[in-house]
Amino acid sequence: MTEQTVTLNTAEGDFSYPLLPGSVGPEVIDIRKLYGQTGKFTYDPGFTSTASCQSAITYIDGDQGILLHRGYPIDQLAEQSTFMEVAYLLLHGDLPKKSELDEFTNTITYHTMLHEQLATFYRGFRRDAHPMAIMCGVVGALSAFYHDSTDITDPNQRLIASHRLIAKMPTIAAMAFKYSIGQPFVYPKNELSYTGNFLRMTFGVPAEEYEVNPVIESAMRRIFILHADHEQNASTSTVRLAGSSGANPFACIAAGIACLWGPAHGGANEAALNMLREIGDVKNIKHYVARAKDKDDPFRLMGFGHRVYKNYDPRAKVMQKTAEEVLKELGKSDPVLDVARELEQIALSDEYFIEKKLYPNVDFYSGIILNAIGFPTDMFTALFALARTVGWVAQWNEMISDPEQKIGRPRQLYVGATQRDYVPVSER
Ligand code: CMC
Repeated sequence: MTEQTVTLNTAEGDFSYPLLPGSVGPEVIDIRKLYGQTGKFTYDPGFTSTASCQSAITYIDGDQGILLHRGYPIDQLAEQSTFMEVAYLLLHGDLPKKSELDEFTNTITYHTMLHEQLATFYRGFRRDAHPMAIMCGVVGALSAFYHDSTDITDPNQRLIASHRLIAKMPTIAAMAFKYSIGQPFVYPKNELSYTGNFLRMTFGVPAEEYEVNPVIESAMRRIFILHADHEQNASTSTVRLAGSSGANPFACIAAGIACLWGPAHGGANEAALNMLREIGDVKNIKHYVARAKDKDDPFRLMGFGHRVYKNYDPRAKVMQKTAEEVLKELGKSDPVLDVARELEQIALSDEYFIEKKLYPNVDFYSGIILNAIGFPTDMFTALFALARTVGWVAQWNEMISDPEQKIGRPRQLYVGATQRDYVPVSER
């Protein structure tokens, strides 16, 4: 097959660039030689038209509302698989055979404890510290404790670091919660599932037995699976960029956590629930929808809209169903769920949202579920970080093994002052 190219006509002449096909999805124009040949850069703030790498992990068709991990649709994974299966799938490329799954689960299970000295780190934080502040600090600090898995040139050390991160993240997040409420840390219990263990470390106390509710356990499993990976989003790109310089995996994941914290990214689940609470009643929705449409008002409907999805986020559908199930199981009725359902209906039939293709995203319903389970809002993003760690380490490993990988070093369109001479302060 002849190579397809795209030709750029410039004042200096015509230059051709290869058009690279993916296995599915848009082709990309390979412009690596552009600067060398033309002396020009491309300009793409926010990377809206830029493929920063090649990847075989996750595929999103934003127009159709499709999300595939290693080819498997997200709704099938959320309904049928365990989080350990999805973690293995993202890391290794295929669903594990029974023996592979057993071995992987065993490995993760036996890495769940933290170095005991790390507990003293927590005591250095204020009790009212945001859990994401603690997560950034403690995950970054792991590199000071696990020196035997920071040599990124050794595939075995990379794998051990990946296992450690996946295994320890629930312990770290649960300890952040326990610290904030002044309760003792609860050690992991290996006989429980990944999610069951996390629920026990979060809500259990040493003085009593904790029984994992299977409906809540399954809801958490789904939430973790739905957040496990999402292609080259801001935090994943941050992890890749940090890793591109050769930084150790714990430092890279800490960088990802910092990026995820923002309200336009992982922080949106917290912001969405706060917004639904602020709306408070179905009768107030019209007012808030009008504010979201007003160009002069910075207010946005949190949990709505997505850079990639221009259709219903497939994760939001599973979240909505899970929210109903959890509230039913707990015998709770949350007026916020009524507000969310009604707001969704109104927004989906409103010309502004239709025209801009703004649909509920994964964060629209997740806060309602997490709130019903008993998590305070500031833990929501920490749970997102916990689940996304699997995607981050899979993407980080893929990047390190990619022979085309280079240090990430974007260029710029410089619009500042041109060269001028220094003037002593007395003469300015
Ligand atoms: N409410 C009202 N208007 C919106 C919203 C919203 N939630 N989202 C986008 N718009 C409008 C925006 O004002 C703009 O209008 P115009 O073209 O007239 O200027 C247009 O839609 C395009 O918006 P944009 O900000 O250029 O789009 P983007 O791709 O840069 O931003 C986004 C995507 C997710 C940051 C944005 O939709 C947003 O801020 N949503 C609310 C926050 C949120 O829910 N974030 C979670 C994303 S999903 C979880 C994750 O992946 O981390």
